[in-house]
Amino acid sequence: MKPVLGTCYYPEHWPEEIWVEDARRMAELGLTWVRIGEFAWSRIEPSEGKFDWEWLDRAVDVLANAGLKIIMGTPTATPPKWILNKHPDMIALDEKGIPRGFGSRRHYCFSHQGYRRECVRIVEKMAERYGSHPAVQSWQTDNEYGCHDTTISYSQSAREEFRNWLSQKYQSPDALNKAWGNVFWSMEYSEFSDVDLPNLTVTEPNPSHVMDFRRFASDQLVSFNKLQADVIRKYSDAPLVHNYMGKTTDFDHFDVGADLDIASWDSYPIGFLEMISSENDDFKAEYLQQGDPDFQAFHHDLYRSVGNGRLWVMEQQPGPVNWASYNPSPLDGMVRLWSLEAIAHGAESVNYFRWRQAPFAQEQMHAGLLRPDSVEARGMIEARQVKADLTDIGEVTQLQAPVALIFDYPSQWATDTQPQGANFYYFNLVYQAYQVLRSLGVDVDVISKEQDLDGYKIAIVPSLFTLDDAFKARLNNFDGAVLAGPRFNSKTADFQIPANLAPDIDHLDLKVSRLETLREGIQRDLLTGGYAHSWIEELETSEIVLERTSDGNAVLVQKDNWYYLGAWLDEDAYKRIISSILESAGVSYEELPRGVRKRETKEHTFVWNYSTQSHEYRGQTIASTDVIWFKK
Ligand code: GAL
Repeated sequence: MKPVLGTCYYPEHWPEEIWVEDARRMAELGLTWVRIGEFAWSRIEPSEGKFDWEWLDRAVDVLANAGLKIIMGTPTATPPKWILNKHPDMIALDEKGIPRGFGSRRHYCFSHQGYRRECVRIVEKMAERYGSHPAVQSWQTDNEYGCHDTTISYSQSAREEFRNWLSQKYQSPDALNKAWGNVFWSMEYSEFSDVDLPNLTVTEPNPSHVMDFRRFASDQLVSFNKLQADVIRKYSDAPLVHNYMGKTTDFDHFDVGADLDIASWDSYPIGFLEMISSENDDFKAEYLQQGDPDFQAFHHDLYRSVGNGRLWVMEQQPGPVNWASYNPSPLDGMVRLWSLEAIAHGAESVNYFRWRQAPFAQEQMHAGLLRPDSVEARGMIEARQVKADLTDIGEVTQLQAPVALIFDYPSQWATDTQPQGANFYYFNLVYQAYQVLRSLGVDVDVISKEQDLDGYKIAIVPSLFTLDDAFKARLNNFDGAVLAGPRFNSKTADFQIPANLAPDIDHLDLKVSRLETLREGIQRDLLTGGYAHSWIEELETSEIVLERTSDGNAVLVQKDNWYYLGAWLDEDAYKRIISSILESAGVSYEELPRGVRKRETKEHTFVWNYSTQSHEYRGQTIASTDVIWFKK
């Protein structure tokens, strides 16, 4: 595959006189893709049933005439006001029951049947009109599902649909009562219509109730997306894509991905570091203008799996953004570095958001490739360098990584539902494993528990809500090393403690007999250095114990190819354990200089430097923010 570049364009934001020149400049820059349409509903259908397609037809033609390929976005993330007037109850309610009203975007509840019908209608009209246009070569459904905390809604529509979902799942209120353990606190129901949403309760709602609600919310989003996908496929054979976000776990991306052809995501490294990173202030200062060296790669590796091997970056940060509390400028070279890093991790296209900075509305302080006065911004200069680099790079083919790291969305919901320790955050535990492996120069595939383990040397399952039979069989048949835990298989699917207690692994004589959680800063030292923190299990076992706390508690247990880790460890201790498993599994590794990361593809070894210092790698100096590649 030869990677390409693209951008996001909003013809409706600019006078028509400049479209031709914009398209010419995009083509001159060497862009292949341009995404349009995803927020344009009020211009396409200004009032009910009154369509104005002519401007969009002309925009499509202008872009097509410049040789650009179009990704057509469905506009369902921004329903116009007349739709809300028609369906006032379509907005989502937050946990406190407060409406999330009109005036920005994503003001809808996934469960509202009337809004679903409006979406099917507009998507059908769009697909009918552009489905066979030769320049429209991809379709994006909606925009950033879940953005601004919009997966979960506590509206009346959600309540009704949740009751239907429960009645299908359990068939009888008795079965539900049993699965949830509703005898506890007299919470039993005699009708599905008695079941409410798990908000506004006096104290903690039943975790089984919350977990089902989280599954339901994810399923609603998945079926909303599928409605659109099915309609578009009636009119077009072009690949379907959605643009996911960073560190968003409210819905199961693998389930959405199953109905689409490509997974893409929106990569804003500096905004992420400021707003959603869990790293400490020193780390944030060190990478202030570069972003976290592993955060982007983690998502490339995750979404490549969500897309069944097909990955795009739909939106790439081109300069300072507007939405973080502080918005530093990327260091010169970072836009190029992020782009080439994405390409090394399999991105078929990197699309810069946005073509030109808008002088109005919410995102007027968000950089584009062009400044509002149409002069080239820094991002454009670097996009041009990337274009030249791609000529030298040529083909990029992904290889299977030696390590599979399992990411499981329901495990995040389960630990959100009943954290037990306030600092137990599932994503961060998985991410720590990723960071450690990447700092050792090891490539990682981040996969779901449904995906194949064949060919991997090591499978890491840092934590798992529940071990279903299919995954259990796959792990039991896997002949590489398995590193599981902590908090592995600690609940049944109904959110109850398993009869045999966790982790209930066939291969290991092992039980978690007790566990403690600890606040930030409190630690239990390990005999061999480093410490356990946050979540520490007491393990009852007859297996070999490889690591213990200084008071004698078993922390790492092994038998044959199975390892069980019973605590959250600091980075150094975790690195020691991972290194020895890598060694025994025959996976080569090397401690990379701080901020330097590498990736093997079939044709190249790519190396890049997120740090502010130069580093040596294989006798070559890599300057701060630079990317180099060795051809094989
Ligand atoms: C994304 C979104 C875009 C734009 C961008 C700004 O979350 O999809 O529409 O808002 O962020 O960084």
